[in-house]
Amino acid sequence: YKKITTKSLIDMKAQGEKISMLTAYDFTMAKIVDSAGIDVILVGDSASNVMAGHETTLPITLDQMIYHASSVVRGADRALVVVDLPFGSYQSDPREALRSAIRIMKESGGHAVKLEGGKEIKDSIKKILNAGIPVMGHLGLTPQSIYKFGTYTVRAKEEQEALKLIEDAKLLEKLGCFSLVLEKIPAKLAQQIAESISIPVIGIGAGSGVDGQVLVIHDMLGMNNEFSPRFLRRYMNLYEGMTSAISQYVEDVKSKDFPNKKEQY
Ligand code: KIV
Ligand code: NA
Repeated sequence: YKKITTKSLIDMKAQGEKISMLTAYDFTMAKIVDSAGIDVILVGDSASNVMAGHETTLPITLDQMIYHASSVVRGADRALVVVDLPFGSYQSDPREALRSAIRIMKESGGHAVKLEGGKEIKDSIKKILNAGIPVMGHLGLTPQSIYKFGTYTVRAKEEQEALKLIEDAKLLEKLGCFSLVLEKIPAKLAQQIAESISIPVIGIGAGSGVDGQVLVIHDMLGMNNEFSPRFLRRYMNLYEGMTSAISQYVEDVKSKDFPNKKEQY
């Protein structure tokens, strides 16, 4: 795949090739992630947490998401860029949802949008799809509803919620979503859903039986020592690496080691 499209992802699922997805929120990170061969870059509203320092994803605005997304688009060459519609930009009514999605597509150059929820937002998803904008769904632990859930623990452990999840996943497929994210649900349920629909299911904390995986880049690079959920694999300890580089720099400035003769004009 020279350039990843929504169609490529559907083909990957049909051929049994797993899909790799990571978040990015700025140009430099997007460039690195894209060069390393990622299939999908998600401009997640997790920017609210990792970029802005908020407790939840709720405060980030549509304008802020567009700023992050436009930076990412400039850094991405091969990857498909999917942009989260933030809390408050699509829940009121389908026309508002479409307006928000159009703003993201026009002002950032992103390739698709992601919305949290199933049946409740089906008219909004339809309206966005009708305008030719690809939609990725997001079910399970949907962080924009954290105050409804009250906790970030695993969702759909009980049958009633699991049944609704299966129904919602089938609905998203039927509406025409090109893919969907399942967050923090039992692996068995996630696999069952992935096997029962033809669009690719990307998991986070949803086990290995799905069609792809997504992680927040700051988490997988180990930039955050405090956040350690079971599903997270750390590929680096950037927190330690950066801290020691920075304290070395401080020491070198204080000791007048930096800059040396070769590092000046
Ligand atoms: O905002 C985000 O980073 C996400 C992923 C965790 C799926 O929605
Ligand atoms: Na998100």
